[in-house]
Amino acid sequence: EHSREITQTLSEFRLTTEQLLEKRMKIEIQNGLSKSTQEAATVKMLPTFVHSTPDGSEHGDFLALDLGGTNFRVLLVKIRSGKRRTVEMHNKIYSIPLEVMTGTGEELFDHIVQCISDFLDYMGMKNTRLPLGFTFSFPCRQTSLDAGVLVTWTKGFKATDCEGEDVVGLLREAIKRREEFDLDVVAVVNDTVGTMMTCAYEEPTCEIGLIAGTGSNACYMEEMRNIEMIDGEEGRMCVNMEWGAFGDNGCLDDIRTDYDRAVDDFSLNSGKQRYEKMCSGMYLGEIVRNILIDMTKRGFLFRGQISETLKTRGIFETKFLSQIESDRLALLQVRSILQHLGLDSTCDDSIIVKEVCGAVSRRAAQLCGAGMAAVVDKIRENRGLDHLNITVGVDGTLYKLHPHFSKIMHQTVIDLAPQCNVNFLLSEDGSGKGAALITAVGCRLRRELN
Ligand code: BG6
Ligand code: GLC
Repeated sequence: EHSREITQTLSEFRLTTEQLLEKRMKIEIQNGLSKSTQEAATVKMLPTFVHSTPDGSEHGDFLALDLGGTNFRVLLVKIRSGKRRTVEMHNKIYSIPLEVMTGTGEELFDHIVQCISDFLDYMGMKNTRLPLGFTFSFPCRQTSLDAGVLVTWTKGFKATDCEGEDVVGLLREAIKRREEFDLDVVAVVNDTVGTMMTCAYEEPTCEIGLIAGTGSNACYMEEMRNIEMIDGEEGRMCVNMEWGAFGDNGCLDDIRTDYDRAVDDFSLNSGKQRYEKMCSGMYLGEIVRNILIDMTKRGFLFRGQISETLKTRGIFETKFLSQIESDRLALLQVRSILQHLGLDSTCDDSIIVKEVCGAVSRRAAQLCGAGMAAVVDKIRENRGLDHLNITVGVDGTLYKLHPHFSKIMHQTVIDLAPQCNVNFLLSEDGSGKGAALITAVGCRLRRELN
């Protein structure tokens, strides 16, 4: 009977509590922090040189770039300190054509600078040399606030000659090549860190940043004494975990399905970012599509006919999965979404498609929650507390658009980290604001040094 076989297939996506890996994540966190294991660690725990969350004294006008999520933005952020703190933002979204994402590094950075140029014209600011914070949402090995060597591209980017290079240097060179305006690049910032800072400006208990979007990642305030790669024992530093690479040493192989392996095999970075490929927006739709293809081949769906559409990579974007899973939607509307994607479905088909989406997104939310449970419990242990109250600043299309992801993720954290009371705060202004706040502190530190 079909329905039994379908249930069986989807049961591969059900995780038992033991499979909820928060313990495995904790081991990888430790490996990333320790000198002796750091080199081979998959969860890289990258130092960010951000030592504190905002205190309200940040002040000035800043430019920010925000590269690596769904949208590329250039922003002007005006921060005012004092009794009535305000942040005023102006921004413009630019597209990065696919061929630029996967072309040469020089083309990519020239394109970025072209967009900055357009933005400065638009704001009428060509002749002001503003300090700039660069949100660059990829793994970077930083040696200071304003130097970061790209470890590896992730998500949809694959421009040549960038890996192993300092991306701040690449940006400065591109600005020079254009010979049109000058900028002072002060900080390179991961989107998790930007998000944490954005939220911490409003809510001081926010010491964790989480992205559940195109990619998946987290950062948090770690004790300096635990970050063995950095000298100094006092205070804290924010660590960009790069948890998307969790599992790249095979430690998640027991829960990966054939569908996960197929998605990985056809990705731009096969073998890498295995956890991210199970729980972020860029890949969930692909897992769904692979299951649907298999079920169609087995004759459970679409009258056994694999259409050209179903063979097309990337058709199930986060927004469509979110719509399909919405409880407010009648099945007829699910069918019309499928129709819109070019898939002719019967009523039975639409029921199955919805079930498949549900199984894949539920597992994603649980895996992400398990990762977060490991982080909050680590912080609790760091501080020697029986009970920790903490806030996580969150952003990302999957978290924001999906009808069930956030709820299931929250519940998983409650179940797996019972000694922590975790409050999730949605970032309203993106990571650009946080990058500007970090830039403000960077400028102040520079002045103090001179
Ligand atoms: C936004 C940030 O807040 O969240 C982006 O400003 C970031 O830089 C993004 O990458 C994550 O969301 P998504 O879903 O667009 O990848
Ligand atoms: C990818 C990137 C990481 C980023 C995340 C969310 O995992 O490697 O740096 O934070 O996506 O955008």
